[in-house]
Amino acid sequence: MKVGFLQFNPEFGKVDENLEKVESIIGNVVCDLLVLPELFSTGYTFKSKAEVIKFGESIPDGKTLKFLKKVATEKKMSIVGGFVERDGKKVYNSSLLYLENSKYFIYRKKHLYRYEKNIFDTAYEPYKFFLIQNGIKVGLLICFDWLFPEAMRQLALSGAQVICHSANLVMDVCQDAMVTRALENRVFVITANRTGMEKRGRFENRFTGMSQIVSPEGRILLRAGEDDEVISVIDINPDDALNKFLNPQNNIFSDRREDIY
Ligand code: ACM
Repeated sequence: MKVGFLQFNPEFGKVDENLEKVESIIGNVVCDLLVLPELFSTGYTFKSKAEVIKFGESIPDGKTLKFLKKVATEKKMSIVGGFVERDGKKVYNSSLLYLENSKYFIYRKKHLYRYEKNIFDTAYEPYKFFLIQNGIKVGLLICFDWLFPEAMRQLALSGAQVICHSANLVMDVCQDAMVTRALENRVFVITANRTGMEKRGRFENRFTGMSQIVSPEGRILLRAGEDDEVISVIDINPDDALNKFLNPQNNIFSDRREDIY
């Protein structure tokens, strides 16, 4: 299975331009599962709830969904990317996983970072995997979810093999922390981060790039630079994530001491 990430520097509020840029970076590259960053079509640094609402897209009419649908259908692949989801009066920091057969799934970020708490609504749905082509089980996380090991643990315990982590990371320790997350759950983790800087009013964010793909053994299979605008693809065997044995004596799931935790 070919999986990849796309890393770039979206321009705040320029949805059409950002979608065009993503399309041009994808170019002729083909893969089975591609992960784009968090809020890739809008940018991240919203100044107010009113501004988030303005950029909110309802399902299934939004520009970002239509774009992901077009790419998934034309390229015959599954694609994940972050967008502002509007559902009635609520707005969520969400990811959309679009499959080549026009099925799609939404994940709403559960752990909101800093000022996101003032502008996005809290999401409550439990963690579960989504099935993509060939029966591969995919789990979604968004950015700051990385700091809460329970999130990926629940996805892995439920059977997820490949975790798609759409991000706008500002802390440079996440990429290394994800190595541990992959290892302790024996899953593949694809982190698609953005690059660049956003300064809007009193808010300023510098994003750390270094998107990566980590194996269930905790090996970094691919890592981008801090500022690259790039799509990178690698071949993986997702079945490697089904084997929870570290060695013949240690199964990382059945060795858990739930009796004393
Ligand atoms: C983040 O969660 N986007 C920092």
